Amino acid sequence: MLLKILGASAGGGFPQWNCHCNGCETVRVGQAQTLTQSSVAIQAGDGSWFLVNASPDVRQQIEQMRLQGCFPAVETAKRTLPFAGILLTDAEVDHTTGLMLLRESSQPLKVYSPVSVKLALTTGYPLFSTLQNYCGVEWSALESGTVISLATGLEVEAFALSTKPPKYMVGEALADEIWGIGLTFRDLTRGSVITYTPGLAVIDEAMRSRFEASDCILVDGTFWTNEELPALGIGSRTALQMGHLPLSGEDGSLKQLAKLSTSRKILVHINNTNPILLTNSPERQLVEAAGVEVGYDGLTLEFQVFILCNYLYRNYLSLKSRQSLGRKKSLKLFFVLNIDVIIIFILSINA
Ligand code: MLT
Ligand code: MN
Ligand code: ZN
Repeated sequence: MLLKILGASAGGGFPQWNCHCNGCETVRVGQAQTLTQSSVAIQAGDGSWFLVNASPDVRQQIEQMRLQGCFPAVETAKRTLPFAGILLTDAEVDHTTGLMLLRESSQPLKVYSPVSVKLALTTGYPLFSTLQNYCGVEWSALESGTVISLATGLEVEAFALSTKPPKYMVGEALADEIWGIGLTFRDLTRGSVITYTPGLAVIDEAMRSRFEASDCILVDGTFWTNEELPALGIGSRTALQMGHLPLSGEDGSLKQLAKLSTSRKILVHINNTNPILLTNSPERQLVEAAGVEVGYDGLTLEFQVFILCNYLYRNYLSLKSRQSLGRKKSLKLFFVLNIDVIIIFILSINA
């Protein structure tokens, strides 16, 4: 399983077209990295790719994937879709608008989502209905509490995250409906587990256990403070009212993430007003000191660790037995022979 962050920013991107906050202006003078809107892609062991959330920047994100050599086998002449499926964690504008940009596909879009998302995308924001006259949509249910197989050796489990409806569904929505899900991907061949929660309002005991049982987590990093938008005079809703647990404070997510034993904890869906996007900010230093990473476009995670360990261990055993060397000598020889393999592995996971 391979995971790529296609867009690490929240809705609006970094910089946002009409925003003049400190962060957006810093990007414009070339002193911070531009970020596209929230999306990731997962590759199964058989080579097939799955898009997780379809952002308004999907066209540019696919071109980036192509440049990075993600689609060697895709038929370029036939206008096919390079994704075996599209998973939607919610029906927010920033996670679904990209579907319209995929209308030129020669095949129907295979979309997986909770039924609430399907309802939103056929009523309040009727993307599914509109797409019926273009490429079409083949919808499959992805409900919280269920596990489905996406490809050979790759399964995904959905779990409830948010009951907050998208703004355009307020009034029409049922109060206790699950409007947002998180996803846990499991590579059954390699045993690796990734959990993705771009819209997280609470970290409870169940979420902590899920995070600790994952090799890597991609977590909501939208806002630094609860009052971030009202304080800047650019929005009336607090982070919590928008369904996003802020990072800072005693009850904030950073303190809780710092305690987790998970190997890699990466923030995604980061709003352009969040000071952690500026590498020299004190807030960024606090995130890094907590052992948490700030996601960025193109960050790729390759889970080869089990295969590598197996390979190295078998190499060590064969050295030890075939040459009837002692433990010390065979360890020495092992490191001389394998140091390049270890370096390539480290480079590949940091690429
Ligand atoms: C969110 O993540 O809360 C939404 O995308 C915000 C919005 O309505 O744009
Ligand atoms: Mn969003
Ligand atoms: Zn801004």
